[in-house]
Amino acid sequence: MNAKYDKDLPIGVFDSGVGGLTVLKAIRSELPAENLVYLGDTARLPYGTKSPASIERYAIQAAEKLAEQGIKMLVVACNTASAVALAALRADLDPLPVIGVVEPGAAAAVHARPGGSHLVLATEATVRLAAYSNAIESRDEQATVREQACEMLVSLAEEGWTDGDIATRIIRRYLDEANEGGFEANSIILGCTHFPLLKEAIREVVGETVAIVDSASTTAHAVRETLQSGGQMRTAREKGDQRFLATDGATRFARVGGQFLGHALTFRDVELVDL
Ligand code: DGL
Repeated sequence: MNAKYDKDLPIGVFDSGVGGLTVLKAIRSELPAENLVYLGDTARLPYGTKSPASIERYAIQAAEKLAEQGIKMLVVACNTASAVALAALRADLDPLPVIGVVEPGAAAAVHARPGGSHLVLATEATVRLAAYSNAIESRDEQATVREQACEMLVSLAEEGWTDGDIATRIIRRYLDEANEGGFEANSIILGCTHFPLLKEAIREVVGETVAIVDSASTTAHAVRETLQSGGQMRTAREKGDQRFLATDGATRFARVGGQFLGHALTFRDVELVDL
């Protein structure tokens, strides 16, 4: 981080919807003094089934909206946008630091299971680009990686059906498909913002010996390191502010977002913006 920004400026966090609030929560717990502004592009969710060109365009519009508000760093909490558009976002926002979730997620998986067999559960777009495979294999030559698109898990998380028979059967169906040919994972990477909500249900299906990795806390560490190395940490004693922006559906954002955040939100907490 070479450019100097006002330390009180918020960290911008962006996702296609509310799932990235799991990343916001991890940043808040790692860096409570930081001001945070979150933008969920709920009008255009899901990104995971869109073409790379559309995802890149949407991601740049959302990032520019946050940059307009004044931020000192951008966290791309969306795996799909991180996989597709990270380089374009960095070029567009330069010199603002931009951190995605794929690299921290891959690092966490390699740390949890060196030389491991990793199964990445993600959206279609993330799987198509093999972003996790590339990130893991560049860190660990011994690792084997398989990626499985699980679009229906996004809907399950959005609907709040995160446990019980329906969730278990859908998870089992995807895992059976992923394990075809005898692949046996000893690490499962939750390569989509929505999947941390399904962690317990996935745990029930795979048992205790498989590591289940998500990128939220490693991304929060990466945010800390970047702020520290640039001398941009906010040192105030009081807790930072949080603002929530969405491109559609404040009531739904508040209802579903509260589950991801772990505390209630109301529609009054959510400001609607146009991109
Ligand atoms: N935020 C997306 C991700 O992490 C999941 C939802 C979507 O498809 O937009 O990949």
